Amino acid sequence: MKYADGVLGKDIPTELARLRALEELCDPISKGLIGSLGLAPAWRCADVGAGAGSVAGWLAETATVVATDLDTRFLTPGERLTVLTHDVTADPVPGGPFDLVHARFLLETLRDPEAAVGRLVEWLRPGGHLVVVGVDLTVSAMTPHPELRAVTGALLEVFREQMGTEPTFGRRLPSLLAAYGMTDIRMAVHPLLVGDGGAGERVMRATFEQAFDTMVATGRLTAEQVEASRAWFGRPGHLDILALMPVVWARRPR
Ligand SMILES: C[S@@+](CC[C@H](N)C(=O)[O-])C[C@H]1O[C@@H](n2cnc3c(N)ncnc32)[C@H](O)[C@@H]1O
Repeated sequence: MKYADGVLGKDIPTELARLRALEELCDPISKGLIGSLGLAPAWRCADVGAGAGSVAGWLAETATVVATDLDTRFLTPGERLTVLTHDVTADPVPGGPFDLVHARFLLETLRDPEAAVGRLVEWLRPGGHLVVVGVDLTVSAMTPHPELRAVTGALLEVFREQMGTEPTFGRRLPSLLAAYGMTDIRMAVHPLLVGDGGAGERVMRATFEQAFDTMVATGRLTAEQVEASRAWFGRPGHLDILALMPVVWARRPR
């Protein structure tokens, strides 16, 4: 199945709001890190799998940007922002060479993430920065709340079936980048919290809602478990970590 035809496809009416919640959750992470790397007007940047485009738009306030995605309907070109329909697994380099390549919530959804990383590395100029923000839902297997364990387990299975998702890919990324000859490899990890009514919760609840029909239709979750997971939210003491978001960044050698 193609990404566009699955539970995260852009034909789903709630997908734009889900992406906006994702941006609210992750933009401080991406923007804070990229700012610290020295984003400058002369930089050429690529935001790969740019989604609804908040990072690309923000980068274009300072630098020149190409925003790529399989489906660009939520991306708006601007004076310094080029929007390109582009498949990172198959299409030629979308410009560059780049001072910055940013890929967020993308690599773990690809069937061959190693090859995609190899491409992103090649798109960089010597000294250029790769910034990857990932999401790893496997930590949800350790939740003390069975309602959440059931729904995130079922979600991961749907992702695996539809996209070939490898949820722990971010943890392999540092050594993969070393094998590709990258330098200054760094990593940080952020928790994705639910139960606080925040952006992480809104992303996850929207993702669950988009996948519930598939989870039930494929026998991975019962209607009772769907209701139990919905009812979990908003109760006293119901606060938990549902995912970790690994951030990995590195430079191509000069
Ligand atoms: C979960 S969204 C994340 C969007 C954005 N990076 C963000 O963090 O706000 C993943 C995006 O990657 C795009 N995508 C998936 N597979 C892709 C591929 N092979 N090439 C380019 N984009 C892809 C999807 O269309 C979607 O817009």
